[in-house]
Amino acid sequence: LVLVVDFGAQYAQLIARRVREARIYSEIVPHTASVDEILARKPTAIVLSGGPQSVYAPGAPQVDPALFTTGIPTFGMCYGFQAMAAALGGEVRRTGLSEFGRTPVHVGEGGELLGDLPPNFSAWMSHGDSVYAPPPGFLCLATSDGSPVAAFEDLTRGLAGVQWHPEVGHSEFGQVVLETFLVTIAGCSQDWTPASIVDDSVEAIRAQVGDAQVLCALSGGVDSAVAAALVQKAVGDQLTCVFVDHGLLRQGEAERVERDFVAVTGVDLVVRDEADRFLGALAGVSDPETKRKIIGREFIRTFEDAARVLNATKDIEYLVQGTLYPDVVESGGGEGAANIKSHHNVGGLPDDLQFKLIEPLRTLFKDEVRAVGTELGLPSDMVWRHPFPGPGLAIRIIGEVTKDRLDLLRQVDAIARFELTAAGLDRAIWQFPVVLLADVRSVGVQGDGRTYGHPVVLRPVTSEDAMTADWGRLPYEVLERISTRITNEVREVNRVVLDITSKPPGTIEWE
Ligand code: XMP
Repeated sequence: LVLVVDFGAQYAQLIARRVREARIYSEIVPHTASVDEILARKPTAIVLSGGPQSVYAPGAPQVDPALFTTGIPTFGMCYGFQAMAAALGGEVRRTGLSEFGRTPVHVGEGGELLGDLPPNFSAWMSHGDSVYAPPPGFLCLATSDGSPVAAFEDLTRGLAGVQWHPEVGHSEFGQVVLETFLVTIAGCSQDWTPASIVDDSVEAIRAQVGDAQVLCALSGGVDSAVAAALVQKAVGDQLTCVFVDHGLLRQGEAERVERDFVAVTGVDLVVRDEADRFLGALAGVSDPETKRKIIGREFIRTFEDAARVLNATKDIEYLVQGTLYPDVVESGGGEGAANIKSHHNVGGLPDDLQFKLIEPLRTLFKDEVRAVGTELGLPSDMVWRHPFPGPGLAIRIIGEVTKDRLDLLRQVDAIARFELTAAGLDRAIWQFPVVLLADVRSVGVQGDGRTYGHPVVLRPVTSEDAMTADWGRLPYEVLERISTRITNEVREVNRVVLDITSKPPGTIEWE
C-alpha cells in the first residue's frame, strides 16, 4: 500500500492513479491524518501531493516532521517537496520567479532518482516558492531557472522529492521518476493487477456477505455490470439482479443486458419491462427537471416493487452499489460512509430500503473497473460503453417524450454510434449524445419533394470526468458519413447539426 497524502489540490487522485498504473495499490489520505493514523495503515511508501498554498502561508497544511522519522520511504511533489524541505531544515523561499507550465529541468551528476533520465527534459511546474538549499543529508539532483533545487534525495532515509508534477502527462518521464522511487528506492512490489483485484474483491465480498442474499440493480452501464459480475463470481446464486427497462434506452441495450450479460455471468436476472409505465407518466411533460423527477420516482417505485416481491421469498440483506473510489474520496473518504450519489443512479435509491450496502468498486478508479470487467470476461462493448444518463433518451428529446420520438431517436443514435465505432473513435470520445429537437421543424428537400422535418444535434465530447468537457473534433469524413446516413435512412430527419460548445458553459446533455 502506498498512501498519497492530499494537500488539497486536484492532483492527489491523479497521483493515486499513476501509482496504480505502476501496479502498486494506493489510497488517498487527507493531510490532516496524524502520523499514528498513517502508520496504522502500514504503508510501504508515502507520497506527499502538491497543494495550492505556500508552505509559509498562515494556515498552510503542515507535515508533522515525525513523519520523516518513521523509516517509511516518502516522496514529495511540488508542495509536498517544499513541505519536506521545510520540515527537515532546508531553505524554502519566494524567489519572485514563479514557474507555471512546461519548464526545462537540468539533471546533475549522481543520485538514484533521476539516474535514468537525460540531462535535460521538460516538466510541468506550478509554484511560487522554491527550495534554495536542500535539508542536511540531501543531495540536490536537478535545477531549473526558477528552482535552485528542483529535486533531491536522501537514500539513507528513503526520502526524495521533485519540484514538478511527475503525475501530469505534460511532464516528460513522469512515470519513470515515480516508478524509480516506488520500486527501486522504496522497494514496493508491483503486484496490483486486474487478476489480483478480482481475487481480493471476491474474497472480501465472501467475507462480508456470508450466506446472505444480495440484490443488484443493473442499469446497462459498466459500473453496475462489473459490480454485479464480481458479486456473482463471489457468491453465485445468492445474487439476484433486477433490470428495470424504462423504455428510454438506446437500440439493442436492453437486449444486451438480458442476453449477453446473463450469458457471460450466469446471473439470475429479473427483467421488469416498464416502458408503458414510464411513457404514461411522461405524457405531456417537456420540462427537463420534471422529466427527471418523474423518471426517478417511477424507477424507485418499480425497483421497490421488484425488491418486495423478491424479498418475500429470499429475505434479501444486501444491496450492491456501484460506488467508485473518486466518490469515496470526494465525500470525505470515511470508512463505510454510505454515499449514494443520486446523479449516478437513476434518481437514486431510497434510504428506507432496509438493505445493507455492498460496494465492490469502492476502491477502484473507472479505468480499473474497465480492466476488471475485461478480466471477468464481459463483452468489450459493455466494458467500454460510454456513460449514459439514468433518465436515458428522455433528456435527449427536447420536448415531450413519445414512443414515436423515442423510436426515431434510437434509429438516429444507432447510426451515429455505429459510425463512431467503425471509425475507431469510441475511446477517444468520452460521450456522444444525439439530441432530437422534437419541437423544432425545418424545411428541406429530400428526393424530389419539400420536407418539413426535425433537426438532430450531434454532441461528441471529450472529457476526463464529465465535470468539464470539450467538444470532440470528429473528422469531417466521419461527420459527413453520419449526416448522410441519417438523412438518407431516417425520413423524419432532414437536418444534422453539430454542437461545438464546451462545458462550461454548456452541459454535456441538453437537458
Ligand atoms: P451534464 O449534462 O451535467 O452531464 O454535463 C454530466 C454527466 O452526467 C450524466 N448525466 C446523468 N447521469 N443521471 C445520470 O445517471 C442523470 O440524471 C444525469 N444527467 C446527466 C451525463 O450523461 C454526463 O456523463
